[in-house]
Amino acid sequence: MRAVAIGSTGQLGSDIMRVWPAGDTIGLAHADVEVTDRERVFDVLRAHAPDLVLSTAAFHNVDLCESEPERAFQVNAAGAVHLADACRELDAALMFISTDYVFAGDLGRAYVESDPPTPVNVYGTSKAAGEQLIRTRLDRHYIVRTSGLYGEAGSGGKGGNFVQRMLELGRRGKDLRVVNDQVLSPTLTYDLAQQLLELARTGRYGTYHVTNGGACSWYEFTAKIFALTGTEASLSPTTTAEFGATARRPAYSVLCNAATKEAGLPLLREWPEALADYLHRKGELQPHIQAREDQR
Ligand SMILES: NC(=O)c1ccc[n+]([C@@H]2O[C@H](COP(=O)([O-])OP(=O)(O)OC[C@H]3O[C@@H](n4cnc5c(N)ncnc54)[C@H](OP(=O)(O)O)[C@@H]3O)[C@@H](O)[C@H]2O)c1
Repeated sequence: MRAVAIGSTGQLGSDIMRVWPAGDTIGLAHADVEVTDRERVFDVLRAHAPDLVLSTAAFHNVDLCESEPERAFQVNAAGAVHLADACRELDAALMFISTDYVFAGDLGRAYVESDPPTPVNVYGTSKAAGEQLIRTRLDRHYIVRTSGLYGEAGSGGKGGNFVQRMLELGRRGKDLRVVNDQVLSPTLTYDLAQQLLELARTGRYGTYHVTNGGACSWYEFTAKIFALTGTEASLSPTTTAEFGATARRPAYSVLCNAATKEAGLPLLREWPEALADYLHRKGELQPHIQAREDQR
């Protein structure tokens, strides 16, 4: 399977390039292709003649999307149309990375793939539009929703990765107040990249939720980062209302990975295990935990 990965220098894209077979995977950075430029998308994809196009490209700064809705829809929705149409012309499949933010987070239970999108902000609305436009234009698609990504490369679109940012602020002695009423499944991009490859090999097109297992609030996630690294930080919980971000965010956007299970793929490991593994690779674990991980 000859694959083209768009957004290859991003957080998830970098792990795609590490995990997917090197000889068969061509990475395209933002400088190589701009998804809002329809002609460029067609030209670049024609030149590579892929069997599968995977796109992580997005405008996903959630608060900025509120003040720049045109740009959000250009990248996340029109960009998706360009990719779908080029794939149709080339008889290629498209794997589009989407988000838990297509949901309102007010069900009080994990979302399954068949739940209708109910976005509460511009970002989620533009990604839901991108998803739906792909469904209407290209049968051979995988739409993969994920959540709370962190990985070695850090997210370009968000100015770094949450784990490193919390560690840096915690170590600087900052008083950290982190929301305790937004619950999600933080997901390691390395794990996601592996599951995407397995999924691409199934040929079972459709909509999928792929996250690490379990769920936590951003506050609980931060507390675990500090516990695993032995960071003595000043951390306290706060509420979404007190925090007062520009964009509304879902309260409970945990994604049930039902469709991948049905496709016969193993579920990803639980989020604390993935986090410990990430911190281990970074050499950030507390010494006694690091030693235990080294022996594994
Ligand atoms: N980060 C999260 O917590 C999270 C959660 C759920 C879902 N997602 C989804 O997961 C995907 C990957 O996220 P990520 O954290 O890996 O993001 P990222 O690090 O910002 O990577 C996105 C990549 O796409 C490129 N890109 C951005 N706009 C583009 C455009 N208009 N045309 C072509 N390339 C463009 C970026 O290049 P430059 O950086 O050079 O512009 C970057 O290489 C996104 O689709 C996002 O919606 C993310």
